[in-house]
Amino acid sequence: MADRLSELIRRDAQDALREGWACEIAGREIYCLVETSSTNHVALNLARQGALEGTVVVADAQSAGRGRLGRAWLAPPGTSLLFSIVLRPRPGPPPFQTVMAVALGVVRGLAAGTGLEASLKWPNDLLLGGRKAGGLLAEGEAEEGGFGFMVVGVGLNVNFYPRRVAGIPAEATSILEVLVREVDRCALLRHILQAVDEEYALFRRGVSPHARWAEALATLGKEVVVELAGDRIRGRAERADENGALWILEPGGSHRRILAGDVTHLRTVG
Ligand code: BTN
Repeated sequence: MADRLSELIRRDAQDALREGWACEIAGREIYCLVETSSTNHVALNLARQGALEGTVVVADAQSAGRGRLGRAWLAPPGTSLLFSIVLRPRPGPPPFQTVMAVALGVVRGLAAGTGLEASLKWPNDLLLGGRKAGGLLAEGEAEEGGFGFMVVGVGLNVNFYPRRVAGIPAEATSILEVLVREVDRCALLRHILQAVDEEYALFRRGVSPHARWAEALATLGKEVVVELAGDRIRGRAERADENGALWILEPGGSHRRILAGDVTHLRTVG
């Protein structure tokens, strides 16, 4: 059965989606799509055509949703939050801090909308009870004569059981699975966009999201395995720096700085 978010998306009811929420940047423009290939793909095209910073593309279904490291992002239609936001950060702070600000907004909005305390797995996974319930995908481009733009896509498993969907990793979870009840996706989207807006506005004013982002990282202090193209590193995740890089202490005592990769948490150390 179609819920309120499906209904508002179908009616392209941007104003109703924005009801009761005062955003400085995020959601100034909202594109509602019943089904699309990938909201990141659409948002990137809009950004190339000059879309306003804060433009949000929200879809009820994706036929080619993309995840990190070339993976697919799967979600049954009408069950999830699938959206992307166009951002045009000023030069200066490390580019990954834009993603940190959005991730913090998602964590805060999720808490406000559901009472659930999510954590982050480096670099961009959203965890509930240590299991993946969502993720962020950032894609950016430089622009001639401009500062460039970044599209940050967010996928959050809301009202479905991931283990019943072929192709989704068995260890994934959802809000439904954790709360044992369905939640109002529309209210949740508003909470998240509002919190993303607040975090991004702070970031734009020069407040670094780094310390709070690092605090939300469940990865730190854990024994981890990082899969990189052609390499596998095992060690203790010690810290994540201002650029978003993860520092691993290897058993031999050497430190490795990782900028991208796939992390598995093994166990908490000490
Ligand atoms: C990951 O954990 O691998 C990141 C997943 C990001 C998925 C979202 S769903 C909305 C947006 N559109 C996409 O195609 N991908 C992101």
